[in-house]
Amino acid sequence: TEPPTRHRAATGVRSAGRASIAARHLRTDRWWLSPAATAAGLLAFVAYSTWRAFANADYYAAPYVSPFYSPCLAENCVPMRGGPNWEVFGSWWVLSPALLILVFPLGFRLTCYYYRKAYYRGFWASPPACAVAEPHRTYTGETRLPLVLQNLHRYFFYAALPVAGILTYDTVLTFRNADYAWGHAGLGTLLFLVNIALIWAYTLSCHSCRHIVGGRLRHFSKHPLRYRLWTWTGRLNARHMLLAWSSLISVALCDLYVYLLATSTFDDPRFF
Ligand code: FES
Repeated sequence: TEPPTRHRAATGVRSAGRASIAARHLRTDRWWLSPAATAAGLLAFVAYSTWRAFANADYYAAPYVSPFYSPCLAENCVPMRGGPNWEVFGSWWVLSPALLILVFPLGFRLTCYYYRKAYYRGFWASPPACAVAEPHRTYTGETRLPLVLQNLHRYFFYAALPVAGILTYDTVLTFRNADYAWGHAGLGTLLFLVNIALIWAYTLSCHSCRHIVGGRLRHFSKHPLRYRLWTWTGRLNARHMLLAWSSLISVALCDLYVYLLATSTFDDPRFF
């Protein structure tokens, strides 16, 4: 007699070697809530950031520059006094300067271990939740194009470091007033400070970062400094999902704040 798995595909949840359960899942809770909320949150961010990245306007209100547009690398950037405005790309670049720089944070987040889980579940249902079979007949994981490119995550991490450094510089510049005099701080300064703290916490909690500082060591005892760093990144890493969402929200809020100032919808309250 033929084994029950004889006609099942070679890979995927119906393949030989997997438990022969006909039901798609046996869960009785509202398992779909989490992937649905994740998909809605990510879609909202994608819609907002696409609008702002292509807008090519209202991204600078002294002393604040939107994190979506920093550093500004094109000749068509609005002049930002003291800000990171380097004309690496000449006048031939006519599109929004945000597109030149967003590719790095976007690549970093797109290949992030947490975001992979989020969008694999939220958009591709692969799988939609723990113990819920996915609809796809075969499974190749991240072994083929385009998903094999997820392995570039470590390099996006390296690229994310200078970007976070530049955003830190932008945050320091928010301690000036609109006339570029130092020693001032406004509501925007506070927002930028929270944002940069979250950006660094998210960046340093990266799984690749944790591996870079403490991975491939035979004896932690012989590398006390790396062990200490690995412990710190490990603690942050445990909150990677929380940091991924909070930094995503804070970066969008900073951009929105600059937009409201630049369009004169709102006035920046100054604390001192
Ligand atoms: Fe999420 Fe590296 S794993 S940023």
